[in-house]
Amino acid sequence: MTVATEEHVRRLPKVELHCHIEGASRAGTIKELAQANGVTFPVDDPADLYHFTDLNQFLDIYAVVCASLQTADDFHRITYECLEDAVEAGVRYREMFFSPGFVIKLGVPVSTVWAGVSAAVIDARADLDIGCRMILDFDKPSGGGHALEMADFAGAQDRDLLIGMGADSVERVDHRPFAAAYESAGRHGLKRTMHAGEDGPSDNIALAVREFGCERVDHGFRLLDDPELTAEIIDRRIPLTVCPTSNVMIANVVPDVASHPYARQRELGVLATLNSDDPGMMRFDVADEYAAVVGAFDYSLEEMEQISLDGITACWAPDDEKAALRSRFEAEFDQLRSSYGLPARNGAG
Ligand code: HPA
Ligand code: ZN
Repeated sequence: MTVATEEHVRRLPKVELHCHIEGASRAGTIKELAQANGVTFPVDDPADLYHFTDLNQFLDIYAVVCASLQTADDFHRITYECLEDAVEAGVRYREMFFSPGFVIKLGVPVSTVWAGVSAAVIDARADLDIGCRMILDFDKPSGGGHALEMADFAGAQDRDLLIGMGADSVERVDHRPFAAAYESAGRHGLKRTMHAGEDGPSDNIALAVREFGCERVDHGFRLLDDPELTAEIIDRRIPLTVCPTSNVMIANVVPDVASHPYARQRELGVLATLNSDDPGMMRFDVADEYAAVVGAFDYSLEEMEQISLDGITACWAPDDEKAALRSRFEAEFDQLRSSYGLPARNGAG
């Protein structure tokens, strides 16, 4: 067992599977775009924008961020910038959410959003050392009709850029009307996921994986409340995209990372990946998250390298791309170890 230093784990190569472009946007950029689009910005210093103590307050600020985004160029800018920031956090591959429900309500068509987002992904792939695919999250409070529209829109796009459909925003709504949207997404060959068991019950996780065909679950904080479901998730190797610090800062369902069930989930054999959720709004990225779990759970370097590799297992890239990522990560693990005077890994992972 090798001691993991914070500095070392920040530098590990990472996959990130739970991150929202709107929540990853830079406050300074949002202020500029708000001004350009004639939207009132609620604070003088953009750094003051991102203060919240629960999911509802967070979503109110999310709405301000989204109101500032109106043109395809606006969406290009925040998508590209947040991929630049991801590179700084050591992310080599990211599957990222965009949530058009907020701006659709303000009259911006989803096609405008996607024009900017998809162009930014193509540009970032060419310019930056990061791979990326997008997941369209429908807005749960907007209901089943909106969900179905989003599934059909997503289904008609290039699958190499838009790989899946998910759902976010408040969890305390009736989820059963989303069945048709998930069925349509499946027919279109989209991968499926859903925010579930974040501040709502484990029943929503059960719905996702038993009724909606979800291949991953976003958050899954409440999974261990249901031992049978936990056994099923382990058995079916359904990954969770866990965001411990977000659960402390946004959903406010746990007082600190040390009290989070992440370590217990992994101990039981759940494929629980580690992610930031909304790094811009939280001012806390996935490198910070790696450092936070080392501090909270005393993880060894081997465990942290395994967490990094589990991101590759859980991602939806084609098999050859996953194999290439794995080889690259293993080589980088050993290079990093060598730079700290540590012996190479001995075939672990
Ligand atoms: N939960 C619900 N809605 C969201 C989240 C989240 O973690 N992030 C952005 N929108
Ligand atoms: Zn989220």
